[in-house]
Amino acid sequence: ESKLGSKKEKTLALIKPDAVSKLGTIVIALRENDIQVCKAKMVQFSRKDAALFYEEHQSKPFFNSLIDFMTSGPVVAMEIMGTNVTKKWRELLGPTSTAEARSTAPNSIRAMFGSDDTRNAAHGSDSADSAARELEFFFPSRARCELANTAKFENC
Ligand code: PPS
Repeated sequence: ESKLGSKKEKTLALIKPDAVSKLGTIVIALRENDIQVCKAKMVQFSRKDAALFYEEHQSKPFFNSLIDFMTSGPVVAMEIMGTNVTKKWRELLGPTSTAEARSTAPNSIRAMFGSDDTRNAAHGSDSADSAARELEFFFPSRARCELANTAKFENC
């Protein structure tokens, strides 16, 4: 807990395939907003894992294009930490739709690096509960196998 009594929390920041090349700029933005990167790894989603990660959207019309896109190249998963970081990271991201982000939040990550409703640069957990589930997905507290955690950066 900080001096002001505000609690630090952790959440998932997931850089999507279209913005992996912008990782450096995104990490600088996190730092400028007092958000710390605790863990990070770059992985290639299998279709099965991507479908599991996005299982709440499986009945949506865009589900297949979402899975196509998320498996089109590597993603970078980061456990990030800061005061109200779940909300703060989603604010930094801006609205889901790139067009809306460009008109309402021109300095947001999606406005700067997104292209459309599918290729929208990054993902953030939408609540404390989904943050816990999504962090466990990428950074399991009990490694499912030796290899799962070998290429992981840990900082907190
Ligand atoms: S919903 O229906 O309100 O729950 O959907 P939304 O929160 O807007 O989006 C959920 C995730 O699906 C992605 N999405 C899309 N992907 C591909 N194509 C289309 N048309 C599309 N629309 C939404 C959106 O980027 C969200 O992904 P995450 O990773 O959660 O940001």
